[in-house]
Amino acid sequence: MNDAALRIQELRELLERHAYLYYVLDTPEVSDSEYDALFRELQTLEAAHPELEDPNSPTKRVGGAPLKQFEPYAHRLPMLSLDNAFGDDELLAFDGRVQKGLGREKAVEYFAELKFDGASISLTYVDGELVTAATRGDGTTGENVTANARTIQGVPLKLRKPLAGLLEVRGEVVMLQTTFEQLNAERSARGEQVFANPRNAAAGGLRQLDSRLTAERRLHFFAYGLGAIELAEPTPPSFGKQSSLLAALKELGFPVRPEPRICRGGEELTRFCAEVLAARPTLPFGIDGVVVKVDSREEQEQLGFTARGPRWAIAVKFPAEQAFTTLNDIIVQVGRTGNITPVAVLEPVQVGGVTVSRATLHNFDEVDRKDVRVGDTVIVQRAGDVIPEVVGPVLSKRVTDLAKPLPPTVCPSCETALVRAEGGVFLKCPNSKGCPAQVANKIKHFVGRKMMDIDGLGEKLIDRFLEEGFLSDVPSIYALRDQRENLTQLDKLGEQSVDNLLAAIEVSKTRPLERFLFALGIPELGERSAKDLVRAYRSLEKIQHLSMEELQGIEGFGPRVSAEIWTWFEDEDNREMIRRLLQAGVAPVESSGAVEGGAFEGKIFVFTGKLDKFTREDAEDLVGKLGGKASGSVSAKTSYVVAGPGAGSKLAKAEQLGVTVLTEDEFLSMVPAEHSLGSAGESIPTTLF
Ligand code: IVH
Repeated sequence: MNDAALRIQELRELLERHAYLYYVLDTPEVSDSEYDALFRELQTLEAAHPELEDPNSPTKRVGGAPLKQFEPYAHRLPMLSLDNAFGDDELLAFDGRVQKGLGREKAVEYFAELKFDGASISLTYVDGELVTAATRGDGTTGENVTANARTIQGVPLKLRKPLAGLLEVRGEVVMLQTTFEQLNAERSARGEQVFANPRNAAAGGLRQLDSRLTAERRLHFFAYGLGAIELAEPTPPSFGKQSSLLAALKELGFPVRPEPRICRGGEELTRFCAEVLAARPTLPFGIDGVVVKVDSREEQEQLGFTARGPRWAIAVKFPAEQAFTTLNDIIVQVGRTGNITPVAVLEPVQVGGVTVSRATLHNFDEVDRKDVRVGDTVIVQRAGDVIPEVVGPVLSKRVTDLAKPLPPTVCPSCETALVRAEGGVFLKCPNSKGCPAQVANKIKHFVGRKMMDIDGLGEKLIDRFLEEGFLSDVPSIYALRDQRENLTQLDKLGEQSVDNLLAAIEVSKTRPLERFLFALGIPELGERSAKDLVRAYRSLEKIQHLSMEELQGIEGFGPRVSAEIWTWFEDEDNREMIRRLLQAGVAPVESSGAVEGGAFEGKIFVFTGKLDKFTREDAEDLVGKLGGKASGSVSAKTSYVVAGPGAGSKLAKAEQLGVTVLTEDEFLSMVPAEHSLGSAGESIPTTLF
C-alpha cells in the first residue's frame, strides 16, 4: 500500500473509533474541532484517490446523491409489532400468561427496556460491513434506506469485531429532544412549518430521498435486538439472553441504552415501569413506554408467536404526551411584567394522563407562524410538568373559512394601548403600575412558594382581596394585619383562617435575601441569579446601588441582564416599594446562610447525571452554604464536576478542559460532617438514571 492508502485506512479507523467513543461509550477523547480536522483530511485524500472509494467510509455520513425512489426490501425475518399493555393490571396479566406458558413456579426473568419513540430500522451486516438498511414497512417488506442509515449517528458502518457471515441488527432511529428544539427554532426563524414531534422528524428524516437531508436531521440510533443470524461460526453464547445480547451488541459497536434492567416477576416490572415513567422527562429523547421481554432466548422460543407478535414480549404503553382536540377560543393573558400571552381554550382532552383545557400559545408571532385559528383541530402537547402548549393545527382537518386571529391592540385588563418591546416577540402592556392584571400577578408571584412563601394567600384570595380593596399592591400584604376585624367578617373566612394567614405573613418577613429579591419580580432576576447576586454582594443596601460595571462583574450577568436589573433599581417607584416593605417590618436575612471561609469558598461546582443521595437543588444549596457556587455549565473556571451515571456532554467538556470530576460519594466526602446531606440516613433518589 502506498502512503495515501495507508493514511486513508488509518483515518477511517480513527474516525470510526472516535464515533464509537462518542456515541456508544459516551467518553469522547477528542474535541469536535479535532474530529473535524481528521474528517476533512480524509475527505481531501479520498477526493484525490477515487480508486480507494469505500461506501462505508466515515465521510459517507454526510449523505450522497439523491435517489429517485426507494427500492423495496424483503425482510429475511418479519419485523413484528408487539401487543400493548395499558396499566399494571394488563402487565401482571401478561406475566401470568408467560408463567403459565412456561409452566414455571418461580418468577420469570424479564429484561425491561425503554420503548423508543422513533422509527424502527433493520441493519444488515455481511462479514462485518453494513450492506443494507431497511425500514419496517408493513413488517414483511420495507424500503431500502441504506444511504440514509449511513448518515445516522451511532450506526456502525463496520462492526468492531470481524464476524463472518450475515447478521441483522434491529433498533430504533430517534431524534434527541435538543436537536428537535434546535431544528424547530431554525425552521421557525425561516418561516417554515415546524415538526410536530421528534418521532415525526426522525421517521420523516429516515425516508428522505436525498440522504444529505437525512444527515441534516442529526438522527440517533439505539439497538434493541436481532433479525436474521446466518453466521459462519456458531452463534455466540451471549446471544442466548436479551440482557447479554445487548451487552454484546455494544461491544460490536452499537449504541445501547444503560437503563434496561432484569426484573424478576410482575411486581418488579410494575416498579420499573413507574420509575421509567417518572424519569421520562429527564431522558434526552422521547419514549412511549417500556418493552418487556422474557430474558432467556430458550424460553422465548418455548413461548413462540401469535399471528400478531411474540408471546414473550409486551409493550407497556405510557399516556401519550400529545393529543388532538378543538381550539374553541384564543384568550389573552397579561403577565406580571405586562407581557401579553395568547392562551388557547380547548375542548378538554387527556394529555400525558391529565385533562387539559387551556394551553399556551406563547406569543402572537407564534400564533401567526403556526397559523392556528379558532375552530381548528390542533395538536396539544404536555411533557412532564411543563405547561401544556399548542404545537400546531392539523391543516387537513380545517374547514374552509376560519378567520385568522388578530393580535389585541389594547390591554384586556386596563385598556392601555399595547407596545412591542424593541426586537422582542411579546406585546406588552406598558401600564406596569396601574394595570390590575399586572398588579395581581405581581402579588401572586411575590407570595409564591419559592419566593416569600406565604401559605394561605392563594390566587383566588388575592383576586378577592384586590376586588374588595384589602390589597392594592405588594406592600399592602403587610398592612392586612391592621384589617383583621374586617377580614374576619368576609364570607367563608373564619377567625382561625384569618389568624393563620396573618401569622404566615409575619413569618415571611424574615425570608433569605435571595428569595426576597426573586419575589420582587425584577425582570431577568430568577431564582439562581438572585442567589448569585446575594453571594457576590451580601446586603440589600449594597445590591440596590450596584453600578452596571459591578453587576456585569458577576459571573453569568451579561450586559442585557445587568441593564434590566440596574434599570429596575433606578426606578423611584420600585425603590419606594422596597422602602415601604422594609418599613412594614420585612427584614430579609442577608447572610444567605453562606459560611464565610466555608469549605467550598471560591469553588464552582457543576452537577450532572443521576444523583442518588440528594436532589440537585439540595446539593446546590449546600454548595452555596459552604461558600461555593453552583453553575449550570462547565467552563475553564469550573472547579469540580460532580458526575453521576448518564452524565453526557458536561462530563465530556470537563474531561476536555481537565476539570476535576468527582463521583457523588467523593463529593459527599468533601462535605464537613455537620452539613452532610445523607446524615439523617435518608437516601433521596431524584432521577432514575
Ligand atoms: S422489540 C418482536 N424493543 O416498538 C419484538 N421494540 O410494537 C420487536 N420499539 O415497531 C420489537 N423500542 O420499533 C423492541 N426496546 C424496544 C423497542 C421497540 C421501541 C418499537 C419497535 C416496534 C414497536 C413494537
